[in-house]
Amino acid sequence: MVSSLFYLLLFLFFFPQHNLAQNNGRVATSTSLTATDETTPWFSPSGDFAFGFQKLQDKDQFLLCIWYAKIQEKTIVWHANISNPVPRGSRLQLDSQNGLILSDTQGNTIWRTDMVFGNIDHGFMNDTGNFVIMGNDSTDPLWESFRNPTDTLLPSQTLERGSFLVSQRSEANFSQGIASVF
Ligand SMILES: *[C@@H]1O[C@H](CO)[C@@H](O)[C@H](O)[C@H]1NC(C)=O
Ligand SMILES: *[C@@H]1O[C@H](CO)[C@@H](O)[C@H](O)[C@H]1NC(C)=O
Ligand SMILES: *[C@@H]1O[C@H](CO)[C@@H](O)[C@H](O)[C@H]1NC(C)=O
Repeated sequence: MVSSLFYLLLFLFFFPQHNLAQNNGRVATSTSLTATDETTPWFSPSGDFAFGFQKLQDKDQFLLCIWYAKIQEKTIVWHANISNPVPRGSRLQLDSQNGLILSDTQGNTIWRTDMVFGNIDHGFMNDTGNFVIMGNDSTDPLWESFRNPTDTLLPSQTLERGSFLVSQRSEANFSQGIASVF
């Protein structure tokens, strides 16, 4: 009994369940993520989806994306519409006026969420795989990843081993894309 408790604690210690997200999917304004190998992404409440940076294979470059996190082979369901991956140290921040802003290490804006008008209250990584930006005076999102599919297509080979690119999917065929993984 004592030993099984010991192993349980050991397991919890070595495999922190950070996907049982501390913030329950909620992302406060001014929160940021940095492109490194170790940065914990923003998880949805169930831990099914994560928003953050994925390292590209054989390169010290990163892709800002949303992936299905519950299977070994990460399945990317959305990525920022950027022609080139971003260097290590790039930073994504949820700004209270402009939404998500991705900057390089010099602070130059590489990408940002377009058409965000209003005062931002928080971001939310939904268990549906949709990242939304909520305003302080509306229940409708000011921006959502489902409504902003990407045009740029990255070849599946560019992703780190163990990752798998499904490519961009519109809201309509999104669930099919997930289903086909199993
Ligand atoms: C994606 O980027 C391309 C090239 O910069 C641009 O023409 C297109 O409008 C963008 N699409 C979206 C959905 O932002
Ligand atoms: C998550 O998405 C679903 C479906 O669009 C929606 O009904 C629900 O309100 C969302 N949850 C939150 C906390 O925004
Ligand atoms: C939203 O934020 C703005 C700016 O801080 C404030 O003027 C406005 O009263 C807020 N609206 C609500 C409903 O809290």
